[in-house]
Amino acid sequence: MNDNNINVLLNNYCNRREFVKDTLTGISTVAFGSFMLVNQSGCSEGSPTAPINNSDETITVDLSSSENSALAMIGGTLALGANVLDSKGILLYRQSDTNVLAFSRNCTHNGCTIGSFQNGTSACPCHGSQFDTSGSVVNGPAVNPLSQYSATITGNIVTITT
Ligand code: FES
Repeated sequence: MNDNNINVLLNNYCNRREFVKDTLTGISTVAFGSFMLVNQSGCSEGSPTAPINNSDETITVDLSSSENSALAMIGGTLALGANVLDSKGILLYRQSDTNVLAFSRNCTHNGCTIGSFQNGTSACPCHGSQFDTSGSVVNGPAVNPLSQYSATITGNIVTITT
């Protein structure tokens, strides 16, 4: 074997090595990307968690609107989607004529979006934590209560702030 043949063999070896390396990198990237998509779709209904950093923001809910009518009655609940206060949305509970409670839908276990109140509890689809209408944990693995917003009701308008 002369020097030219050795160079050709080395070049082929390096090319094969590069090919295998590039292929494995590509497979890893696709596999990791698929994992991220599966992980995100399995653990979230909405957009990723974002910090709430604007204390001047408020949202209002008009109870005279038919889509919000559940909250017009004492004991009624409403689930709001993502909004300027909370990227996971907000759960509302009409505690009395004059009092509405508002909670983040951000699960305190690991940040998934919890569902609407059903029979007085909201469940997390990820690991099964449950929260009652006071925001307290009734079933783990979450241990901390839901974050609460300030909510006031004036006439038919519920105003929610940080
Ligand atoms: S993220 Fe909600 S129970 Fe784990």
